[in-house]
Amino acid sequence: MTTSVEEFFDEPLEQSRVKARIVSDYVITFTRILSDYQRRRGKPPKVDYLDLFSGPGSYGDGTASTPLLVIRAAIHDAKLAPALRTYFNDRDIEKADCLREEFARLGGLDKLSHRPLVLNEEASIEFVEGLHLDPATPKLFFLDPFGYKALTMPLLRSVLEGWSECIFFFNYRRVIAALNNPAFGSNVERLFGSKTLASLKLELTQTTSPLDREFLVLKHLTSALVEAGAKHVMNFSFKVEDGHRSTHHLIFVTRNRKGFEAMKTIMARESSRITEDGPSMTFTQQPAEPTLFDRDPHEVLGENLMKRFQSRTISLDNIYEEMGAETLFTQPYFRRSLLLLEQKQEIEVDPPATSRPSPNGRQSMSGNTMITFPERTT
Ligand SMILES: C[S@@+](CC[C@H](N)C(=O)[O-])C[C@H]1O[C@@H](n2cnc3c(N)ncnc32)[C@H](O)[C@@H]1O
Repeated sequence: MTTSVEEFFDEPLEQSRVKARIVSDYVITFTRILSDYQRRRGKPPKVDYLDLFSGPGSYGDGTASTPLLVIRAAIHDAKLAPALRTYFNDRDIEKADCLREEFARLGGLDKLSHRPLVLNEEASIEFVEGLHLDPATPKLFFLDPFGYKALTMPLLRSVLEGWSECIFFFNYRRVIAALNNPAFGSNVERLFGSKTLASLKLELTQTTSPLDREFLVLKHLTSALVEAGAKHVMNFSFKVEDGHRSTHHLIFVTRNRKGFEAMKTIMARESSRITEDGPSMTFTQQPAEPTLFDRDPHEVLGENLMKRFQSRTISLDNIYEEMGAETLFTQPYFRRSLLLLEQKQEIEVDPPATSRPSPNGRQSMSGNTMITFPERTT
């Protein structure tokens, strides 16, 4: 299935819906977390959200896309309304005008301390600099161009400066095609940077497997992002055509563990499947049925916990703090796996199950519950 630029806005493909939900849910969470933090410190709540490739705001059938989802949520959320300052930009004048009209039609903009600003420029480093953003205000950027030409490592590096996070849509299908075509050499060089591109190309010559190639592209992209200042890079893939190969990835970049956890929870919720390694972090148009070989993910995680923490006593929160960023499992999976290990009497838990609350008959385990793992004999 190919989607031309004009067709893109004709109807919301399911993948566009998923993308819009992930981004708008994260904007809401990001703003709530940061504005709560600022309020606790007696500061006025201030968060910037910048969508540099915003589109017109809705699809041909009237379904709201990311900008409208964000502004609608802000209007109805007492924490977001005073805190969120939004900038939307599209170089296409018609799309920018359309977005302005969509916002005007929403009603309730007066509830926002900062009305959305819609701009009509070429997205670039100079454009962002020209906005004279307050360096002390936390920022979230969303970069969603059609192809990948407008997405460059210098632009990503510049939007990641300071207290800043970024979500971008990575058109893997186009990038992999361009990597094989010398005519697009300068575009891919701008995206990866010359050093990263050289090592990526070298490693690509050593495999023909599509899965390995995708892994290599993401690995090198991630290392370029880490060099640009990222601490955590989280990836959600869209496997639309044959259910195996990715067409696009939504990539989230942050220095902040709390932000990383919030996005992990959102991406886990949008995953089409749960595998034994955790939520697939993938949207698949036709999700595969679980096979006989799929094991219960809690069981697999439980085994890993028994190995990793053998002979140690440690709280649930600290287990997750130590291991959470290495796996696709979110904290509720850790809790459930530990509850199952406790039921099987494979671990010691303090306080024990009988002394912990069981709301609605469900055994609880708070973050400061201490777990003692036995020494492994095998
Ligand atoms: C994929 S669409 C954005 C969709 C939008 N994020 C949504 O959720 O509905 C990309 C948009 O970026 C705009 N665009 C493409 N290149 C651009 C550039 N260099 N600078 C600014 N806007 C650009 C296009 O006009 C198009 O509306």
